[in-house]
Amino acid sequence: MYNSKIVGLGKYLPDNIVTNKDLENKIDTSNEWIVERTGIKERRHIVKGDGNTTASMGAKAAKIALENANMSAYEIDLILFATLSPDYYMPGSGVFVQNILNIPTCPAMDIRNACSGFVYGVATADQFIKTGMYKNILVIGSETQSGAIDMTTRGRDIAVIFGDGAGAAVVSRNESKESGILSSHLHSQGEHVDSLVMKAPNTNKWVTEIVNENNPEDSSYYPYMNGKMVFKNAVLRFEEVINEGLIYNNLQTEDIDLLIPHQANLRISQFIQRKLNLRDDQVYNNIMRYGNTTAASIPIALTEAWEEGRLSEGNILVLAAFGAGFSWGSTIIKW
Ligand code: ACO
Repeated sequence: MYNSKIVGLGKYLPDNIVTNKDLENKIDTSNEWIVERTGIKERRHIVKGDGNTTASMGAKAAKIALENANMSAYEIDLILFATLSPDYYMPGSGVFVQNILNIPTCPAMDIRNACSGFVYGVATADQFIKTGMYKNILVIGSETQSGAIDMTTRGRDIAVIFGDGAGAAVVSRNESKESGILSSHLHSQGEHVDSLVMKAPNTNKWVTEIVNENNPEDSSYYPYMNGKMVFKNAVLRFEEVINEGLIYNNLQTEDIDLLIPHQANLRISQFIQRKLNLRDDQVYNNIMRYGNTTAASIPIALTEAWEEGRLSEGNILVLAAFGAGFSWGSTIIKW
């Protein structure tokens, strides 16, 4: 059986920075509230007309990941695109990236697992490589969430958290047995679907009903989150799924060189850090600068950690995510 490994990383963040002060001028919130409850100081939002879309940002991150992998786009055998905010309802965003990268034909598929989408993507890539079916796979996480945010008091809990951006990884066949992706552990629990959800458009509420100008009370086109319920489940599942990966690989928490949790909320990361008894240098956080970029948060943080020299050969890297579905997962990597 083959082994797989991350050989290139890239990220793209739109230029437009939206600070907590900017939000104070638009909705009923305060810098103090946002920093205290979430740790976020600023996030990036695309600007209408700046040419950015979920797919184009994903393609920009992918180009950088390919450059860093010293690989041409033609060598890619499969594109996995994780997002909750695709360019179009149909088709998925992976084919847009394929077109932008000028790859004539290769399979492309989208992963709709919200915050855990990138971990699901890496796990899927790893399996395709382990079976020998593919050699080089692009895994992208990209989100444009700023366009679907309820900028009224009703939506302020969500409005302050989410940001836009993209990250990408090239996952390739690894000839060495000494390093690479060790294992992935995936879960979901559909009974909690209503706690974190964006209900429309859907099969009962089609395009003809999308324009809700005549019905401003209809909030089903905006994401809804039961914050406390999500928080409680997130801290429980993060800890569980990280431990599951460690036990599977016969590792202890002190073996972790770097944990990159999905950047949902700084308080969630700090809670997990305390529960697992990890030092500050074992956990990577950048939510202060980018907010919660859902499927893009892990590849953006991973790229940044790599750029900062936080990953050395032989390091144990843990990726873990929890989000809508609920769905969650972890991946343990020997760098
Ligand atoms: N600004 C000011 N006040 C606000 C804001 C805001 N942006 N949002 C909510 N409030 C108010 C509420 O209306 C409430 O007021 P009230 O007491 O008068 O009723 C008060 O603040 C407290 O609200 P809570 O919802 O109880 O605040 P809480 O401490 O739970 O924090 C938060 C809310 C930050 C959303 C928290 O529940 C949380 O982080 N949950 C986890 C959510 C999360 O991480 N989601 C992302 C993971 S999943 C994914 O990435 C898709």
